[in-house]
Amino acid sequence: MREFGLLSHPLLRSPYASIKERDPALLVHLKLTARIVKGCMLVNGIGLDRRLVLAALLHDIGKVFLPQQVLKKPGPLTREEWELVKLHPIIGAKLIWEVEALRPLAYWVLCHHERPDGRGYLGMKGLEKEVWILQAADAAAAMLEGRPYSPPKQPAEAAAELLKGAGSQFEPEAAALVIKVLKLLEEKPCLRSSDL
Ligand SMILES: [Fe+2]
Ligand SMILES: [Fe+2]
Repeated sequence: MREFGLLSHPLLRSPYASIKERDPALLVHLKLTARIVKGCMLVNGIGLDRRLVLAALLHDIGKVFLPQQVLKKPGPLTREEWELVKLHPIIGAKLIWEVEALRPLAYWVLCHHERPDGRGYLGMKGLEKEVWILQAADAAAAMLEGRPYSPPKQPAEAAAELLKGAGSQFEPEAAALVIKVLKLLEEKPCLRSSDL
């Protein structure tokens, strides 16, 4: 895929290298999100924009510019810390926008914490299908990995959460696609770490 070569673009090389060095867990998260997005394209049958896989690989790149002590804080965040974390889609989108060939991806990255009920980071509504797939895949990856505030879930448990949130937290068709991928992961756990 030609666009993957853009990961070595001068503007992205340094942030991506610092993810590898400072936050390997974030790199694992980016790759798992990308694998789930790729899985969505495979189970979809009609195909989706393959640039979405690249957007998944980059979606949290804005976190590189946030303090590690905030990102890794085990307890609840203060209001100020939370406001800081909420900036990462904007920072990431701005960075990606600077790379002309990646501009179409910037919008997907900007919107990856939006929700169909408008209760996302920016409160945006009426977003395109690709955004919802990235958003649901990101949430599923986070559930499988676990976070300081919640232990890792099995694929079936993550699928149940997506089903519960369909229509409010998740766009129903995107949730259904990601649920199909989670079922595949339940049957074949090795797919979780297979190459893209
Ligand atoms: Fe994010
Ligand atoms: Fe994420």
